[in-house]
Amino acid sequence: MISTRVSTIRPSATLAVDARAKELRGQDVDVVSFAAGEPDFATPPHIVDAAAAATRDAGMHKYSPAAGLPELRQAVAEESNTTVDGVARIGAENVAVTNGAKQAIFSVFATILEPGDEVLLPVPFWTTYPELVGFFGGTAIPVPSRSVPGDLPSVDDLEACVGPRTKALVWCSPANPSGAVADEQRTRAVFDWAEQRGLWIVSDEIYRKLHYAPGPLATMRALGCPGYERLVVIDGVSKAYAMTGWRVGWVIGDAEFVRCVVRLQSHMASNVGNVAQAAALAALTGPQGVVDDMVAAFARRRALVIDRLDTIGGLSLLRPTGGFYAFPDVTEAARLRGIDNTRDLALRLLDDVNVAVVPGEAFGMPGHIRLSYALSDERIEAGLDRIAAYLG
Ligand SMILES: Cc1ncc(COP(=O)(O)O)c(C=O)c1O
Repeated sequence: MISTRVSTIRPSATLAVDARAKELRGQDVDVVSFAAGEPDFATPPHIVDAAAAATRDAGMHKYSPAAGLPELRQAVAEESNTTVDGVARIGAENVAVTNGAKQAIFSVFATILEPGDEVLLPVPFWTTYPELVGFFGGTAIPVPSRSVPGDLPSVDDLEACVGPRTKALVWCSPANPSGAVADEQRTRAVFDWAEQRGLWIVSDEIYRKLHYAPGPLATMRALGCPGYERLVVIDGVSKAYAMTGWRVGWVIGDAEFVRCVVRLQSHMASNVGNVAQAAALAALTGPQGVVDDMVAAFARRRALVIDRLDTIGGLSLLRPTGGFYAFPDVTEAARLRGIDNTRDLALRLLDDVNVAVVPGEAFGMPGHIRLSYALSDERIEAGLDRIAAYLG
């Protein structure tokens, strides 16, 4: 018998679209996919070279500390300090390296949640959060923004959903799937509110470097890392350095908390692959122009997607300012086509015009579709032409 814990994990709502897209491709159909959650760029060559060199280092062929290679932990700490204000605030003891940011989130929930705990999740949310909260016996409480649907919630929105069992708040800015970014004022207000209530803040900053508005990005880490011992920052190399397949992420937090995460990691996975860690070290310590180049390409594509979506009737878009996603509200456009939910719309777009998108149902916000703009300008144009022809 399969355990209740695992059998209650819901299959991803993207699976139906994925499976159909693969079937069509297998029949040589030209599918334009806006479904990818990863950069389309190759990992920059100097990072790959560092990994190649690591494969020839015999020391890298053995187990290494479960917390991560000491030099990588140190580099993560230094990079984080630079992000905040350049002052040496946290050290390697505040960092645990994990198999991608996803495992960091798994380990964080494992470390803080008791059965019955409630976790506040701004809507729309990345699909993994509620599944992992549920896996550890917690209850995910969706928190919509009541003033601007799809935006990150205000303190009032959060206050409307908090209760005696609330343990934590997940904060993802820039957000997947909306591309929403919280400004300095909102970030501070939410941080102060959560701190006063003694809530854990799980700040997922994986899209931190992919940010298109002028000025620095406001982060929870800048406010409470260190300082608030229940602030946990999630980060990694996957998105900013085009390294999704390398599987290196990390948790930053209070040293005692990090020791607990490492204890779990030591039984769950031992260390993250050393070669991948060497690559991540090269990413953090090498030239950062590679990130700037990718950000420039994403910024251009973002403008293209916004311009084109604006011309499609019956569709409205909260301007994304970070990440590489747009999340338009297509309720009206779908209705005009006689389709009453976005899961069906996604399947229709795939079958009728061969475009793959992820339906809002996957993110707790039906009526929307997520379009990733991590594909070439030409493919974006071709895909949006098809969507416009179908919905327009
Ligand atoms: C919000 C968010 N957090 C974390 C992750 C996981 O990143 P990683 O590939 O490093 O596990 C993703 C990946 O899609 C994401 O969108």
